[in-house]
Amino acid sequence: MLKNKLRYICTSCDFINLGYLGKCPNCESWNTFVQNEIESKNQSGKNAFFDSLMNDGDKLKQPDLDDNFLAGDEKRSLSGFKNLDAVLGGGLVQGSVILLAGEPGIGKSTLLLQLGHNMAKNNSLLYISAEESIKQIALRAKRLSINNANLKIKSLENLEEILTLINTLNPDTVIIDSIQTIYNPSILSSPGTINQVRESSNLIIRFAKAKNITVILVGHVTKDGYVAGPKVLEHSVDVVLQFENYNLNNLRVIKSIKNRFGPTSDLVMFNMETTGLSEVLSPSKYLLEHRISDNEKISLPIGSIITVTGKGNNSMLMEVQALATQTFYPNPKRVVNGFDYNRMLQIIAVLEKQLNLNLSKFDIYVNIVGGLDINDTSGDVGVALSIISSYLNKAISPMALAIGEIGLTGEIRSIGFPDKILKEASALGLSQAIIPRVKNLSHNFNNFKINQVSNIKEAFNVAFEQ
Ligand code: TYD
Ligand code: MG
Repeated sequence: MLKNKLRYICTSCDFINLGYLGKCPNCESWNTFVQNEIESKNQSGKNAFFDSLMNDGDKLKQPDLDDNFLAGDEKRSLSGFKNLDAVLGGGLVQGSVILLAGEPGIGKSTLLLQLGHNMAKNNSLLYISAEESIKQIALRAKRLSINNANLKIKSLENLEEILTLINTLNPDTVIIDSIQTIYNPSILSSPGTINQVRESSNLIIRFAKAKNITVILVGHVTKDGYVAGPKVLEHSVDVVLQFENYNLNNLRVIKSIKNRFGPTSDLVMFNMETTGLSEVLSPSKYLLEHRISDNEKISLPIGSIITVTGKGNNSMLMEVQALATQTFYPNPKRVVNGFDYNRMLQIIAVLEKQLNLNLSKFDIYVNIVGGLDINDTSGDVGVALSIISSYLNKAISPMALAIGEIGLTGEIRSIGFPDKILKEASALGLSQAIIPRVKNLSHNFNNFKINQVSNIKEAFNVAFEQ
């Protein structure tokens, strides 16, 4: 007979130790260790309740060989959000598992209540809220004018009760809000710990796959994305949607960072209004709203250009503005908001040297619109071009994007993943990009002029069509 190993586990961070400890050496919490007596039945994939549920009544279908596997006509349901469905590759694939990750308060529950309302028109849908009471959800539903009687909502935290309910109702789609608040009673760790998140989500995913139920899991992340949950889940779900703030406070974007059934790195933009989230169908208009005059004619902005911060999936487009005015002081003023002060001084020095601009007679103000910060070097070219634009009093195309890092000799260095940034810009309706030289761009961009430049002189020539 196998001896049941006794271990002590920290209920706060899942650190395992042979003996009892007063203070966890991993997370430094006190008195959090409990004896893990159920280790043998607690290993991934083994759970008495789950196994009995799977074998009870609704038997698991024997794995048949599917003759139609090449047909590829998977059933999809529409979320009711046009662009979101497009990002998903044409709606939610029946039986798929979607993770919606985002910071607390970003609007995940709001979005899913609206989506649930839309989808419950043609599907049976169950919304499980493990975070909020029915009263709280009812208040939100009122605010969102949601009155679909087909939308089934239950406030539950216990995984066993959740699985039993799913088994009884057998809905087409289940929303679990959120995975961090689900509690699997056969695991000793507290809700939200890595162990709980991993085990609970594994059981939900296995159960849903066996019954061909679509699952939307909500996962909270902090800014760095490392809180227990979404990161450990990413590999076991089919689709990962990242919900983020955009550069203006009430704007949100959803980025698809993994999709087994469609393209990735597309985005959907939403506006958070007092009555919920509404899709922004043409984001470029929103982004450039203040650049478009009343008669819909694009006015040429002087001293401003769109640039980017962050890399790869975390990249974000934003507008940089600069103002260069003749100085009345012996020392010209340099003021910057949202960008590194010394980096701006360095860019100004490079412009003076490489382009023979006499900036020492000018006060220079640089501002990142929307109160945001550019924390890396990918916005250098944007900052440089906006300063030149204001200094020369010459506009740059309002639909242009400039990215790249500027070196001390004026060379423009590559930043990571330009393809993804360009795809995003093209989706937003921009029409020109000034980017560092890259070996090969894997996508073709229609109606999008891409100028690859090696140094600031070339960038200058392209931007001002010299
Ligand atoms: P919520 O969906 O609860 O966020 P999450 O589930 O990601 O934690 O959204 C909470 C925020 O959204 C809160 O600050 C209030 C705001 N909100 C609106 O602005 N309009 C609305 O119609 C609703 C329902 C929420
Ligand atoms: Mg919520």
